[in-house]
Amino acid sequence: METLNFTSAISEILAAHTGLPQAELERCLETPADSKVGHYAFPCFNLAKVLKKSPQVIASELAEKIEAGRPGWLGQAVATNAYINFFLNRTAFANNVLYSVLEAGTEYGSSEEGFGKKILVEYSSPNIAKHFHIGHLGTTIIGRTLDNIYRFLGYEVTSINFFGDWGTQFGKLITAYLKWGSKEEIEKTEIAGLVKLYVKFHEEADKDPTLNDEARAWVVKMQNGDEQGIAIWKWFCELSMLEYDRIYERLQISFDVLSGESHYNDKMDAIAQLLAQKGLLQESDGAKIVDLEAYNMPPCLILKRDGGTLYPTRDIAAAIDRYERFDFDKSLYVTGNEQSLHFAQWMKVVELMGYPWASGLLHIPYGMYLFESGKMSTRRGDVIKIEDLLDEAVTKTLEIINEKNPDLPNKERVAEQVGIGALKFNKLYNSRMKDTMFDWDRILSFDGETGPYVQYTHARACSVLKKSLSADSRLDFGELGLALISGSTFDAGLLSDDESFDVLRIMHDFPAKIKDAAEKYEPFIIARQLVALAQAYNIFYHKHQIIVDDEPVRRARLTLTAAVKLVLKTGLGLLGISAPVVM
Ligand code: ARG
Repeated sequence: METLNFTSAISEILAAHTGLPQAELERCLETPADSKVGHYAFPCFNLAKVLKKSPQVIASELAEKIEAGRPGWLGQAVATNAYINFFLNRTAFANNVLYSVLEAGTEYGSSEEGFGKKILVEYSSPNIAKHFHIGHLGTTIIGRTLDNIYRFLGYEVTSINFFGDWGTQFGKLITAYLKWGSKEEIEKTEIAGLVKLYVKFHEEADKDPTLNDEARAWVVKMQNGDEQGIAIWKWFCELSMLEYDRIYERLQISFDVLSGESHYNDKMDAIAQLLAQKGLLQESDGAKIVDLEAYNMPPCLILKRDGGTLYPTRDIAAAIDRYERFDFDKSLYVTGNEQSLHFAQWMKVVELMGYPWASGLLHIPYGMYLFESGKMSTRRGDVIKIEDLLDEAVTKTLEIINEKNPDLPNKERVAEQVGIGALKFNKLYNSRMKDTMFDWDRILSFDGETGPYVQYTHARACSVLKKSLSADSRLDFGELGLALISGSTFDAGLLSDDESFDVLRIMHDFPAKIKDAAEKYEPFIIARQLVALAQAYNIFYHKHQIIVDDEPVRRARLTLTAAVKLVLKTGLGLLGISAPVVM
């Protein structure tokens, strides 16, 4: 069967009926995000002027004319308000989708829309000398996914990890370390040892408040570059990185730029001066602030009364530096929504400073994890460490595998991929502002709306395809799909049943969903599309036997399976989740 270019074929019909240039009409043709609306849609607003009729009237008249002379490949043309919605005939549609998926292969859904555009994505950003805890899991997972999505759409992405590596806590830590610490002990226990020192400092300072003065003195010394202080602080940073690196490796994450608040430590006075020059800086109770009352926000604190530096000031300095270094079109900051005010404030200040690029600064907030017992507290010692969480996810997954498929080869590796994938998927499945209920049974379920379910469906498709390959074939899954569709007995008409049509429809929508996710900074749009695809494929799988004797039928169903496998893997990849071949 020939492949038609549907957009040009549809615009040709429109040109014939309107007498307008085809190329222009083709440019207006849209692909609705939900193909239930139509596979293609043509808005008639622009025609209203030329044809001197209301767009609604134009849509219904044109649709009627098109219906009267509808070619075989077109299933239906219907007017809905000012739009003409086009539905392809099922066979043509199947042919179209399967060719698009299998020819593009791992690139299906990617695009060039981002060419020449630069995006910074800052995410993860844990705080040195503190455990990487569950409070930073969301930013790490969501940030990484946005990073992946933008790269896939052709943007030039730079990922930044902005460590919380400066502040008064380091004065306390250094004081405590010099009084009660031991090098060997800290070397062995890493962050746990540092946390212990921190707790000890507070206990002792309750009894002897002069310790606070000592700590403050260390902060001042460090600001002035004190060698001993800086050396100890650097060592604390390196120790912390050992834990973070282990976690990033397991999460399969790396960053283009490692930065930290300390980088901007010596820029604070310059920022204050700049603000003063621009007439934005005011004094308030001895502190320096930018008044934001006109914008219904509390003032943005720039310098503390004692000259100490502040979080917003560091962010302002970092933003200016990032623009100078990367010349970004957009700069995203992924953090918990409890920091929304902080970002709104300093971004407003940057705007008031008159930087035109301020409009490219964007805070991407997200909701927190909730537990049965209520809101998680990180204030006391009861933080949930990511390392423990990952271990627990993997252990629990291994238990499930041992029950379901005890003979699985590489069980440990698969458990790592599935357990960690499940955690990621769980965070990505809802709109990011929604709080995430933490419930292991739900997260790890193999048949809910979960990561394991999508992975399992992918593995199922792989196993079906494997069965069809002769033992000596060296084709990979992508090549197999292309070989199947290129065969002379391939007949897309054999996929016009409802179940196949649903699967095809969801795959057809996949590229539009990726774009939608990027526009809204909402990974869940992709996660949901993957669950929908997995569900539709499983319904198809249970209803239609795939490996049948009838060669054309077998070929058609295998081709569909090969395309599903590809799309599931690409989608999981965008979410940062592995797609094991067996599980
Ligand atoms: N380290 C900070 C925290 O844990 C997050 C940093 C967010 N990024 C920023 N540019 N302020 O709260």
